[in-house]
Amino acid sequence: MKLTIIGTGYVGLVTGACFSEMGNYVTCVDIDREKIDNLKKGILPIYEPGLESIVLNNCKEGFLEFTTSLNRAAKGCHVFFIAVGTPPGEDGSADLTYVLEVAQQIGSVIEDYSVIVDKSTVPVGTADKVNAQVRKTLEVRGTAIEFDVVSNPEFLKEGAAVNDFLKPDRIIIGTDSNRARNLMRRLYAPFSKNRDKILFMNTKDAEMTKYAANAMLATKISFMNEISILCERLGVDVESVRKGIGSDPRIGYSFIYPGCGYGGSCFPKDVKALVKIGRDVGFTPRLLETVEERNTLQKQVLGDKVLHRFGQDLTGRTFTVWGLAFKPGTDDMREASSRVLITTLVNAGARVNVYDPVAMKQARKEIPAQEQEKIHFAQDPYLALDNADACLLLTEWKIFRQPDFKKMASLMKHWIIFDGRNQYDPDELKEAGFEYHGIGRELVC
Ligand SMILES: NC(=O)c1ccc[n+]([C@@H]2O[C@H](COP(=O)([O-])OP(=O)(O)OC[C@H]3O[C@@H](n4cnc5c(N)ncnc54)[C@H](O)[C@@H]3O)[C@@H](O)[C@H]2O)c1
Repeated sequence: MKLTIIGTGYVGLVTGACFSEMGNYVTCVDIDREKIDNLKKGILPIYEPGLESIVLNNCKEGFLEFTTSLNRAAKGCHVFFIAVGTPPGEDGSADLTYVLEVAQQIGSVIEDYSVIVDKSTVPVGTADKVNAQVRKTLEVRGTAIEFDVVSNPEFLKEGAAVNDFLKPDRIIIGTDSNRARNLMRRLYAPFSKNRDKILFMNTKDAEMTKYAANAMLATKISFMNEISILCERLGVDVESVRKGIGSDPRIGYSFIYPGCGYGGSCFPKDVKALVKIGRDVGFTPRLLETVEERNTLQKQVLGDKVLHRFGQDLTGRTFTVWGLAFKPGTDDMREASSRVLITTLVNAGARVNVYDPVAMKQARKEIPAQEQEKIHFAQDPYLALDNADACLLLTEWKIFRQPDFKKMASLMKHWIIFDGRNQYDPDELKEAGFEYHGIGRELVC
């Protein structure tokens, strides 16, 4: 099939690359000329394991191409994916400006029956808005071309996006049209070989499924973070509690790791958007409001622990931050906990040495210049420890899992670790002579 993907970010690029891998002819479109020029040269805008080789191979074989011209991409194409951003507006609602702009552009280029697939995360009722926008554009053109709008939310996880797309748990397709249903079934057949993973429903159900999934995962995280605070106050080790409750299959082990808050481009914005969606229909989703509030507070927990340990004035002190990305496997810094922590440290007068295996370039772009004056971007994790008063673990990259504690001790001024992801064994650290502060396990040795 010939496909056009509009919006070549995390979702658009992974979607386009993986469909091209199955033998479809895919054109990815973006308005960001620099991004498209780089992709044409084989330079990817994001770090995502396994993505580069799929992109490069399929470009070489002629299955995948990049352009800034939707007109060019649309020639002979009948399937259009919308994968542009839906950032939060000031009131928390999902901003549909880009989605509706693209709907208008699609309406102006389609030549024949087309299926317009919405992959962006959008509020309930957006497929109807896209439909109305395309219809309006066709009316202006004076044509009556048939089309269907399908809601096909994306569930990939950054850091494992390629694998998630190629081997999805489920494929949600929202449509009332048999014609579109059949086309989507054919398109997704290669990803649904070992069992039928496609769940058909109407567009509104599909739109809501995406928000409900993210809200559930965010709730699990905030729940466990709240339990971790209780544990700390009660002198209970939250890691024992995590294992104790995770072994119950009704609860499960995933998404109950205490930490310093969730980040990224999805959970924070989608929880906020769902709260707004509720308010707009006269209902206040109190649980979700609290999930978001707990997360905001959680991002401050590690900084508060540092201030409690060293005092409010950190002038003359140096801290090491290991990990900048919002989670391992990605260079995405959007809403990362490291941002909040670094601001707290810098505002209190500290200098900060940072190291992340892939997000350093992104961090230089996103951290304000004024803050960067107090930040040293180190070449490796150990160089970042030079004369440090404490080391703070923010992202649980594998490289930080089993560090050489002796080497750390030889480099640091004070042997103190703030473990924002509960990666280390406090007993092992105690033996190595370190003072340990974890999340929900304030075991000062
Ligand atoms: N990132 C994720 O892990 C993830 C996962 C599932 C769903 N989503 C959802 O998918 C959507 C896209 O997210 P993302 O992270 O890929 O965003 P992104 O910001 O990485 O990419 C969006 C791209 O769209 C481009 N764009 C904007 N307007 C355009 C236009 N008129 N024509 C062509 N290109 C245009 C931008 O230049 C940008 O490159 C969002 O709704 C998001 O919530 C994201």
